[in-house]
Amino acid sequence: MEIRKKQKLKDFLTRQKNRHRRDDHYYRLAKREGYRSRSAYKLLQIAERFDLIRPGDVVLDLGCSPGGWVQVSSQLVGDQGYVLGVDKRPVEELREKNVKIISADVKKPETIELITKELPRKTDVILSDLSPDVTGNWQIDHLKQIELATFALSVAEKLLKHNGRFMTKAFQGEKLDQFIEELRERFSSVRIFRPPATRKRSAEVYLFANRFLGG
Ligand SMILES: C[S@@+](CC[C@H](N)C(=O)[O-])C[C@H]1O[C@@H](n2cnc3c(N)ncnc32)[C@H](O)[C@@H]1O
Repeated sequence: MEIRKKQKLKDFLTRQKNRHRRDDHYYRLAKREGYRSRSAYKLLQIAERFDLIRPGDVVLDLGCSPGGWVQVSSQLVGDQGYVLGVDKRPVEELREKNVKIISADVKKPETIELITKELPRKTDVILSDLSPDVTGNWQIDHLKQIELATFALSVAEKLLKHNGRFMTKAFQGEKLDQFIEELRERFSSVRIFRPPATRKRSAEVYLFANRFLGG
């Protein structure tokens, strides 16, 4: 395709995407209520359903940029709690006092030490909304996403307290059952949930694993 035609198609797709965003209920709500992402509502819905985050909790949020989940967690843990967010992308500074952000790649071995240094104690809750740069190929995206969720689980094995809670995003696909099995070996209970704020066509589900057996 010649360059001008390609550019026209790109502009068209960008306009479509922006229109969908404007028409999206949770996108508009997030803008109005000052949340940095529409995903904030997914966390609010999951937290409400499972009593995931409690006042005074220490929360680790993996893949936290632009910061919607950090904002929600900060409100739920309150003044006595603490939220540590990690992302390889930058996060614009947050006003919340009980929040700290680290810029790091969770796949790098040295990141666990960076995280540990910023935690006052083992965590009550570990959240992961880690997403790969999606290719549009469901199979590839699924495998990449499960790899990230598995990294999040390996962080939980080191930093989650006994009886702690773990919640991660996962894309549906052939490896999902195996990953759920891995969670079942490490937690007393595992629940699968699709919060109402999830886009209808999305392959994502959220896994809530309660009462960590290690730690
Ligand atoms: C869907 S976004 C998270 C949105 C966030 N929950 C919110 O509400 O603002 C997924 C994030 O995962 C991050 N991510 C993906 N791979 C990562 C990695 N290896 N290390 C750190 N962050 C990563 C991306 O940079 C991206 O910001």
